[in-house]
This record gives sequence, C-alpha cells and structure tokens, in this order.
Amino acid sequence: MTEQAHRIELTVNGTLHVADAPARRLLSDFLRHDLGLTGTHVGCEHGVCGCCTVLLDGEPVRSCLTFAVTVTGRAVTTVEGLAAPDGTMSPVQRAFQKCHALQCGFCTPGFLCTVTALLRDTPHPTEEEVIEGISGNLCRCTGYQNIVKAVHRAAALIAEEAR
Ligand code: FES
Ligand code: FES
Repeated sequence: MTEQAHRIELTVNGTLHVADAPARRLLSDFLRHDLGLTGTHVGCEHGVCGCCTVLLDGEPVRSCLTFAVTVTGRAVTTVEGLAAPDGTMSPVQRAFQKCHALQCGFCTPGFLCTVTALLRDTPHPTEEEVIEGISGNLCRCTGYQNIVKAVHRAAALIAEEAR
C-alpha cells in the first residue's frame, strides 16, 4: 500500500518550501533528503547527540525527533542559514573557526545552532552557563575546551558588532 503523503509548507532559511511527505518523515530527513540541505547532520537518530539541532522559530530542536508534518507553517533555520546573505559567516561561525572549536566537524552544525540561540538569550554567559548551554550537544573530538572558548569569543564579537 502506498503511504499517504501530506502537504508540508515550511520556511527554511527565509525561503518557503512546499513538499509532500509521509506523516512519519523526520524533519532531519525532510531537510536533508527532500530539500537537499545536508548541513544538518544526523548522528544517533534518537535525541542524544544534538548533531541534528536546528532552530524552529528561533528555538533549538532535535530535528531527528521532530516529524516534518508537525512543523508546517513554521520557520526553520539550519546551519546553511546562519551566515549573512552575502556569505559572511556569523559571529558564532567565525569564533568557532578562530578558536579551532572543531576537528571532524560532524557535531559542528548542531553546536552552531545551539550557540546562536544561547547567545541571543544570554548575551554574556558565565562559564557555567556556557557549559550548561552546550550540554545537549556531544562532540567526540575536541574535549569541549575550544568550543567553550569559542562561545565566549562569539559573545565578545556579537557585543563588539552591536556597538
Ligand atoms: S541525531 Fe538527533 S540527537 Fe542525535
Ligand atoms: S568535531 Fe568531531 S564530533 Fe565534534
């Protein structure tokens, strides 16, 4: 029996996408396979690693735990949408680059989305707030120290650029 498809209308990185997908299509698969936005990575596929984190109306969500059909009408930002329209990397992206906050990079899209929301809500986080803020994202390479440094660096860049 052919699976029933549902119409999904989703704004992704400022562009409206309309596609038909089965009710069980995960948002991570919808983004990667239906829209070709492969910047969102999939690691554990059960809500543990945070690699698949995207912003849903600005809030971080696990796209591997979200059915695409449930977010119709809403706005998603993926790692592809963090840079400025002219390609200039966001302060968070630049800080990760400068502080060597990645090695293999598999976890990085999830961290970048998480940290973008963290610094919007907490522009001057303490060390504890940074550690707590990234605690839902796992990295098997870096030991986290440079990621923590990058979050502080990004906070400083955002503050500088707001002056
Ligand atoms: S792939 Fe979604 S949390 Fe690991
Ligand atoms: S940089 Fe390799 S998993 Fe984080």
